[in-house]
Amino acid sequence: MTRDPGTVEQAAGIEVNPVAGYIGAEITGVDLADDLDDAQVAAIRAAVLRWKVVFFRGQRLDHAGHVAFARRFGQPVALGRRGSASPADFPEIETTADRLELGGRFGMEHDEWLERRRHTLLRGWHCDHGARVDPPAATILRAEAVPPYGGDTMWSNLAVAYAGLSAPVREFVAGLRAEHRLGVGYQPRPGDDAYARHLLDHQVASVHPLVRVHPETGERVLHVNGYYVERIVDVSRAESRAILDMLLEQAVRPEYTVRFRWEPGSVAFWDNRATIHLAPSDHAHLGAPRIMHRVMLAGEVPVGVDGRPSEPIIGSEPGCW
Ligand SMILES: [Fe+2]
Repeated sequence: MTRDPGTVEQAAGIEVNPVAGYIGAEITGVDLADDLDDAQVAAIRAAVLRWKVVFFRGQRLDHAGHVAFARRFGQPVALGRRGSASPADFPEIETTADRLELGGRFGMEHDEWLERRRHTLLRGWHCDHGARVDPPAATILRAEAVPPYGGDTMWSNLAVAYAGLSAPVREFVAGLRAEHRLGVGYQPRPGDDAYARHLLDHQVASVHPLVRVHPETGERVLHVNGYYVERIVDVSRAESRAILDMLLEQAVRPEYTVRFRWEPGSVAFWDNRATIHLAPSDHAHLGAPRIMHRVMLAGEVPVGVDGRPSEPIIGSEPGCW
């Protein structure tokens, strides 16, 4: 697809307006609660692949409409464990209603919970369920209630982050693999720690290529994040740390990112295979409700540049949620 800077793409009555240089586009001219025709679905799919995350505003989706919309693009996953605010009748929807809920479930104040998990500055940057052997292909997140300010989400384009490395480093990292694990870097409380026990009882870990080939676009994607990556395999711990620091810094350079300010009725639809996103952490103190509903689409097992697929270590099987 070639396009002139500053122009708007149009197809099937849909307008795609890029909002940052490398990632993110706002889509207008479509009501997601309608039955979309194939041309509309194709236009949205193309925009997601091109811009990695697309935004819709002023939508009126309910739970059924949200799932129906998601089904036009893939297979929604039904989660085995969900937050307590999730709707019982819609196993494909996970609702986050209270940032304080998760820590509280394990007997911790919110600040302590964050502190024990936040072992690096980049801790919040992640792809969804990245420790699985088959992370979701996409996530569709809908805002019901948001604070008047704060609570923005950011995404980064990992295909351009990879392309932005020098040729020798691109070649070097394309041959590496990394262990991804749920709960990396968590600092347990002295004595009994319910979350540490939970992590032991629900371990999820896989080895993924450090550079994956995107199954639809063929792009090479720098497959790192600050949340799940434990270490690069077959190198020393010190080498792993240094390489990861360099790659994580590259992955979230400001020019590769976009930031979205939510409104009630906003929907963000992102390619979870080509992006990482940053969970907001600047709104808990505001005390305002932030209610979000998430549907994820089943994804493929990643494949490296050498054709080798990811391998599960523990806790996930392809297609089994
Ligand atoms: Fe997420």
